[in-house]
Amino acid sequence: MANANQNPSQNTTTRPRISFLGCGYLGATYAICFAELGYEVIGYDVDTAKIEAFASGTVPFHEPGLPELLKKNLESGRLRFTTDVQAVADFADVHFICVGTPQRKGEPGADLSYIEASVVDLSRHLSRKVLIVGKSTVPVGTASWVQELVDRHAPEGLGVEVGWSPEFLQESNAMHDVLRPNRIVYAAQSEWASQLLKDVHRGILELAAVEDREVPVVETDLATAELVKVAANAFLSTKISFINAMADLSEAAGADVVDLAKAIGYDQRIGNKFLRAGIGFGGGCLPKDIRALSARARELGVGESFRFLDEVDAVNTRRRTHTVRSVANLVGRTSGPNGPDLSGVRVAYLGATFKPDTDDIRDSPALAVARKLRAARADVVVYDPEGLENAKAEAPELSFVKTLAEAVAGADVVCAMVPWEEFRTLDPEALGQQVAERRILDGMNAFDPERWRSHGWTYQGIGR
Ligand code: UGA
Repeated sequence: MANANQNPSQNTTTRPRISFLGCGYLGATYAICFAELGYEVIGYDVDTAKIEAFASGTVPFHEPGLPELLKKNLESGRLRFTTDVQAVADFADVHFICVGTPQRKGEPGADLSYIEASVVDLSRHLSRKVLIVGKSTVPVGTASWVQELVDRHAPEGLGVEVGWSPEFLQESNAMHDVLRPNRIVYAAQSEWASQLLKDVHRGILELAAVEDREVPVVETDLATAELVKVAANAFLSTKISFINAMADLSEAAGADVVDLAKAIGYDQRIGNKFLRAGIGFGGGCLPKDIRALSARARELGVGESFRFLDEVDAVNTRRRTHTVRSVANLVGRTSGPNGPDLSGVRVAYLGATFKPDTDDIRDSPALAVARKLRAARADVVVYDPEGLENAKAEAPELSFVKTLAEAVAGADVVCAMVPWEEFRTLDPEALGQQVAERRILDGMNAFDPERWRSHGWTYQGIGR
């Protein structure tokens, strides 16, 4: 990746000082990348351990390339981390709210308590006019409520304004998505705020110009900016559930969903991205965002139009039981009313994270299926390149091993579930030497079935 600091015009433009409140995955990545773009940045969080980690050059989660960029920008002096909200309020001209908006316990809607806490806390410490910009994914209407909070809690007469600018970063590709986004979307309520948001994003546009790229900018109203994010995630989720429904049909009809996806994807109106059939989507975003969108639509009286999203969710969740049944079929066990009995079956289970190149196991389909197999009394031995620690804490009933070789030794069936490179490049003959039985469930649809069968494997993919 080219160095963002090659940007020649760095010193020629107005660069507001920026804070990112909430140093989770989103806020930390933004803080580091904006320092890389030449801005003076402060990252804030209430979690002292997290802030100490970043301040000492350690990224407390797995994201390729981020630790190097963190160290470099700490050294540059442009990047600082703090738990002192007064220091944040004094420092920045623009404050980005990047705190989590998880699903409420037992309800489909989003929990906005972290937004409320951070906005109220910041507002109380302000002493001049600044712009507060929401970046967290929220139900439409949140920005107006945030403006009310600010009006109530900031010292009178400052005229602090709220804007919104959704993010679209994908874990494992996060630095790229911040430094080189495929679009910038923001909303401002005044000319002053609009100019500040232009200044904030200028670094990204200048880098694009140097690299002869264009980044489209959509300036819109607050409600639309909020909706853009959830609409994008809902659309992506729908694509995945669509292809997974086609996988079910392909399995029933003896077709191959991988070829099918390829063939429809050549139509540019459809496109070939997010059409990988498999064990379903997970992570900290897509599942909760479709539920929150559907819940918000119901609140606003248009729930009927979003019933399909509940079905997108249901198709996705059914992948998990379906996958357990596929494993049972592979080892010749039939399923009773409570599913199969897999006692005595040793499963080499490859992958625990919600996708490759991350250690994130939030709503991970792979981990959910592993737990279901264990509940069906299988002996499940899990290996994952980066997700072992998190998975162990979440699912202590599973066995975890530190190498692929330990996982597959003596296995009755191999379940390859998350397309880490280490798994996609497995050699059927070498692997065959290590297992007890040559049976593989390719939950990633990454292998050539004929090649594996030619090495004596019983191969089962998803929808093929
Ligand atoms: C997602 C969106 O892709 C980002 O644009 C968005 O900014 C982010 O959520 C967010 O809301 O913050 P992310 O959660 O990192 O990003 O993960 P994705 O790469 O979208 O993958 C989500 C899930 O879908 C994974 O479990 C993945 O394995 C699955 N998936 C993806 C499929 O099953 N099939 C596909 O074809 C693609």
